[in-house]
Amino acid sequence: MALWGGRFEKSVDAFTQEFGASLKDDKAMAQEDIKGSRAHAKMLAKQGIISQEDADAIDAGLERISDQIENGTFAWDVNDEDIHMAVERALTADIGTPGARLHTGRSRNDQVATDIRLYAKRLCDGLLEGNVELRRTILGVAEENLGVVMPGYTHLQHAQPVLFSHHMLAYFWMFSRDHTRLLAARAAADANPLGSAALAGTTYPLDRACTTQLLGFDRTIPNSMDAVSDRDYLLDLDYACAVSMMHLSRLCEEIVLWSSAEFGFITLSDSYSTGSSIMPQKKNPDFAELTRGKTGRVYGDLMALLTTMKSLPLAYNKDLQECKEGPADAAKTLLDCMAIATGMLATMAVNKDAMLAQAGKGFTAATDVADYLAKRGMPFREAHEVVGKLVLYCEKHGKGLEDLTAEEFRAASPLFGKDIAQGLDPVGIANARVTYGGIGEAAVRAQLAEARAHLAADE
Ligand code: ARG
Repeated sequence: MALWGGRFEKSVDAFTQEFGASLKDDKAMAQEDIKGSRAHAKMLAKQGIISQEDADAIDAGLERISDQIENGTFAWDVNDEDIHMAVERALTADIGTPGARLHTGRSRNDQVATDIRLYAKRLCDGLLEGNVELRRTILGVAEENLGVVMPGYTHLQHAQPVLFSHHMLAYFWMFSRDHTRLLAARAAADANPLGSAALAGTTYPLDRACTTQLLGFDRTIPNSMDAVSDRDYLLDLDYACAVSMMHLSRLCEEIVLWSSAEFGFITLSDSYSTGSSIMPQKKNPDFAELTRGKTGRVYGDLMALLTTMKSLPLAYNKDLQECKEGPADAAKTLLDCMAIATGMLATMAVNKDAMLAQAGKGFTAATDVADYLAKRGMPFREAHEVVGKLVLYCEKHGKGLEDLTAEEFRAASPLFGKDIAQGLDPVGIANARVTYGGIGEAAVRAQLAEARAHLAADE
């Protein structure tokens, strides 16, 4: 018989029991559950609701259970619906009557909310660490490769030469924003629902501020019904994970492109590549692809929780049991994918020459050639037209701007001097971009310093 045996004449059958159970997902937050119970018992004794002897027996019993769960010797029972019942059953079997007093002034509804909030904070802490590690690696790659010039793209077409470091730093800032989102999710979780009981508070003189302090929560939730039914902080966590996975999927898409024969910009380490069972030559960027692919399941976790929460009446509903698996999956997926991305970036080879060759080929200098004319007095719109015609001329003759002679330039406009040849150098073009946030080496150096300071603050 279950804990509520008194009112019932029949038990549910085994399949129904299993269907209704959350123990599988709860095991991840077993230590949080025990922490919550120890704080509750301590507070009950302080308030004179249970005796100090009972509280001591409860505390010692819970510590033993914590150790058993930790070292894998705890006897799980399929008849326990959830972690709260498993722990209470084992405690009462161990210490008797004091164990049966633990649930005074408490419900599984405030208990589960407490567990998940503590668990969400732990997940966020791990993710924040993984995020910092990833950004440290990106910053390292950007620092080591300062001066490497590659083509910058819009519409995945060559646009203008850029610094590879600048391209990498764009990802640094994306992941910096993810750090902020994860901190916000952690802050949202950091509130104590314990003492709300089932939904209405209790007649016992609980000291909720005491458990807030014992459990290290930042604040106490002021409304008992909101406390037991709020899962917004898990949505915040899912959303932070989803956005960060989206950023990883963009990075991984570029890794896949860059490691192709067509680009050849990077070579992934063998330790982050796989071969083919039939094609002997293959070296595939599987782990970048898989990270890109896993973004879908994390989006799914977010959608699933939004949908579960939709239209739920106050206060606790069993639907809420469904909210645990998704965030745990989203957090684990993101944590793993950040570690994979960190490893891939730290071990890849950057093929400077291939990048530079593409950066200087074709028409990446076109904007600067138009600027050349504009700086000699031609209105920019007119200069754009002149260079557009030059590009058309090149295309008809199978040439790039770098292949044109001084005469061909002058035929397009008498403003072109001999110095236009130097004007086509992709390194010079890149480094001439000196505006704050721009791609030139001086601007990128300043940006690196800013990124380093940003990271140090998050470390
Ligand atoms: N197993 C439940 C959950 O995970 C715990 C709370 C159950 N409360 C209840 N009234 N059935 O949400």
